[in-house]
Amino acid sequence: MLPETFRCYLVTKDADGKVHAEITHRRLSELPPGETLIRVAYSSLNYKDALAATGHPGVNKTFPHIPGVDAAGRVVSASGGRFAANDLVLVTGFDMGANRWGGWGDYVRVPGEWVVPLPAGLTSRESMILGTAGFTAGLCVDALQKHGVAPESGEVVVTGASGGVGTFAVALLAKLGYRVAAVTGKASAHEYLKRLGAEQVLGREQVDDRSGKPLLSGRWAGAIDTVGSHILGTILRATRHSGCVASCGLAAGSDLPLTVYPFILRGVTLAGIDAAWGSIPLRHDIWRRLAGPWKLDCLPAIARFVELQELPASIDQILTGQVTGRVVVNVGNDEAT
Ligand SMILES: NC(=O)c1ccc[n+]([C@@H]2O[C@H](COP(=O)([O-])OP(=O)(O)OC[C@H]3O[C@@H](n4cnc5c(N)ncnc54)[C@H](OP(=O)(O)O)[C@@H]3O)[C@@H](O)[C@H]2O)c1
Repeated sequence: MLPETFRCYLVTKDADGKVHAEITHRRLSELPPGETLIRVAYSSLNYKDALAATGHPGVNKTFPHIPGVDAAGRVVSASGGRFAANDLVLVTGFDMGANRWGGWGDYVRVPGEWVVPLPAGLTSRESMILGTAGFTAGLCVDALQKHGVAPESGEVVVTGASGGVGTFAVALLAKLGYRVAAVTGKASAHEYLKRLGAEQVLGREQVDDRSGKPLLSGRWAGAIDTVGSHILGTILRATRHSGCVASCGLAAGSDLPLTVYPFILRGVTLAGIDAAWGSIPLRHDIWRRLAGPWKLDCLPAIARFVELQELPASIDQILTGQVTGRVVVNVGNDEAT
């Protein structure tokens, strides 16, 4: 028997444009349309969630809003034949937690094609330790592989390395045998990054060249960049011939100071990564890899679990670049999954 209302982290905007958040109840009938109703066990906190939770118009323009781009739990009801009640599933991205209500509530309702069966080899908890961050890192590694960057090609650099995507990028690359240089602004994260498998750890200032030179001496075979701006520009100018840089983030800024020389003189590829709306078959394939050949031993060690009411403090931390690893949100707290 379904309840009439469900608990959620609700973000509202008042008449003066001020954004507020509270743990409250909404009617189940208010959930957006979709074939699949899911009882959420776990969600997570990504940078994008923090933007949605503080009313950033680039993520969500409609209020009241429930953030949470990630959700894992059990199917309650589903039409369309893809899923049955009690199936363990996960959803990441698309418009969930952006322009439609997301995983920071007891239930989500989404289109059936957004839903991924929880792959054998992962628990619901583990799937949300990974969440959008792990999935995005997986897409970045896949892009490097498809562009011919192999472990023997040379060192691969990861920026924003102690954040969610960066953590998984370092750990996945190291697991697959790549030599990894991790870039961080946190002196306190050096040991953490070495434990994840980074061979060397660099400060941000070491990859932030503002000399205006169109090319720098070639240092890296590839890169996973989560920060954009001058650091991405520096890395592209310092990527070796035929290298590939996967760009997924803008933690330092959305600009990109650059000329075309890395592309036309070194054949460097800039691979864009979109974890929200990318290919559905690739989505299923990356999740299977994350649960199987790419399964990381470090998952429990890099996660911190919070309750919905503890989110405001974690939101402040992620917005100021202070989070190391992943913040997982206990929603229904289904220990059995
Ligand atoms: N394209 C996609 O589909 C997709 C998917 C997921 C995330 N993203 C984007 O990827 C980025 C990372 O997401 P996340 O969830 O991993 O966020 P996160 O956990 O906050 O990690 C971001 C990291 O970037 C570094 N950083 C923060 N401010 C910086 C600055 N001013 N200059 C240089 N580095 C800075 C910090 O790492 P250090 O202290 O170690 O340097 C921080 O931990 C975000 O921009 C997010 O929007 C995009």
